[in-house]
Amino acid sequence: MGLISPCRSIKDKLGRTIFLRPYEEGDFKGLTKMYGEFEPKGKAMGLPPAQEENRHQWMMGIVEEWFNIVAILESRIVGHAALDRPVTGNAREFMIFVHQDYQNKGIGQALTSSMLDTAKVMDCERVWVVVENLNRIAITVFKKTGFSFASVPDIERLMVAHP
Ligand SMILES: CC(C)(COP(=O)(O)OP(=O)(O)OC[C@H]1O[C@@H](n2cnc3c(N)ncnc32)[C@H](O)[C@@H]1OP(=O)(O)O)[C@@H](O)C(=O)NCCC(=O)NCCS
Repeated sequence: MGLISPCRSIKDKLGRTIFLRPYEEGDFKGLTKMYGEFEPKGKAMGLPPAQEENRHQWMMGIVEEWFNIVAILESRIVGHAALDRPVTGNAREFMIFVHQDYQNKGIGQALTSSMLDTAKVMDCERVWVVVENLNRIAITVFKKTGFSFASVPDIERLMVAHP
């Protein structure tokens, strides 16, 4: 599945080159470092898990079962997005994390766009994400990349994109 993902390099808002590419096995250590440092733990619907062993198990599940893209700055993983396997009607769940030191630089939007491009190549009909209503930065990113609300206003919102 990794072969169908577009590799891209972008300039972030500070002019730094960020390389986006599919996750490779050798990335696990770098991803562990990113999630180990990520704060606040549990920021997005309880993820990433605060407890190290739970975090490890969660990451293992994601890299083994989901399609993953990493964002790299000077060999360091600074962002990670993932797309689940299709469930009903070829819909896939999306998730994304950008290390807090690199947020607000355009990396989240680039990762999300890349994943939607990939979903299109996969003939995916719907990409969905559940986001907390207070997570305004995530909602901004999702709206700017083509997601719209698919649930009534509540503490959590379902957002959907049609790649
Ligand atoms: C959500 C997340 C992935 C966004 O990544 P990012 O790299 O910071 O996003 P970008 O820099 O590409 O874009 C952020 C946008 O939100 C805007 N923004 C920042 N703070 C905001 C706020 N409080 N309210 C509304 N918009 C805000 C920025 O101005 C920017 O928009 P712009 O490009 O028009 O200026 C990142 O914040 C993150 O990892 N959060 C924790 C995990 C999470 O919540 N994941 C989503 C649920 S799965």
